[in-house]
Amino acid sequence: VCHEFILFKYGYTHLSAGDLLRDERKRPGSQYGELIENYIKEGEIVPVEITISLLKRAMDQTMAANSQKNKFLIDGFPRNEDNLQGWNKTMDGKADVSFVLFFDCDNEICIGRCLERGKSSGRSDDNRESLEKRIHTYLQSTKPIIDLYERMGKVRKVDASKSVDEVFEKVVHIFDKEG
Ligand code: C5P
Ligand code: MG
Repeated sequence: VCHEFILFKYGYTHLSAGDLLRDERKRPGSQYGELIENYIKEGEIVPVEITISLLKRAMDQTMAANSQKNKFLIDGFPRNEDNLQGWNKTMDGKADVSFVLFFDCDNEICIGRCLERGKSSGRSDDNRESLEKRIHTYLQSTKPIIDLYERMGKVRKVDASKSVDEVFEKVVHIFDKEG
C-alpha cells in the first residue's frame, strides 16, 4: 500500500505504539493485557514503562535483523508528558528525533472516520464514548507535546481533513524534503 511504499523508499520502519499495545494486550499470559484494555477503552495513555519497552524491543529486534534499518516512523508516540519523559530517559544518546508528522484534523471529522472504521475494525475504542474521551486526552495531554516540538521547529503539519490522496501527496512531499 501507498504509505508503506514511501516508508520503504526512505528506509523507514513503521512502528505503531497503539498496534504494539494491542499485540501485547492479546498475547497469552501478558500481565498487562487487562490494564492495556482498560486504558484503551477509556481513551487514556498507558504508563510509558510498558509502551517504551515494547517500542525499544521492536527497534532493537529490527536493527538486530538488519543493522541498516535504523530509521523509524514511530506512530502515535509520544502522546503525553509521561511518554515524552520515558522516551528521553530510554533513548537519550541512542536516538535522534528528526521531525514530527502532525496530522491536523477537526475533531468531528476524526470521530466520523473512526466510527466508520468501527463498522469493521472490532476495536473497543471505535465508539462515540471512547472517541470523545480520546479527544479529551488529545486536547489535555497530547496537544501540549505537539506544541513543545513546534517550538523546537520539528513539526511538519499536514491538513488531514483532506482526501486520502491529498494527504498522501503532502506526506510524500515532506519525506522528499526530509529524506
Ligand atoms: O494510536 P492508536 O489509535 O492506535 O491508539 C489507541 C489507544 O492506544 C490510545 O487511545 C491509547 O489508549 C493507547 N495508546 C497509548 N499510548 C500511546 C499510543 C496509544 O496508551 N503512545
Ligand atoms: Mg495508530
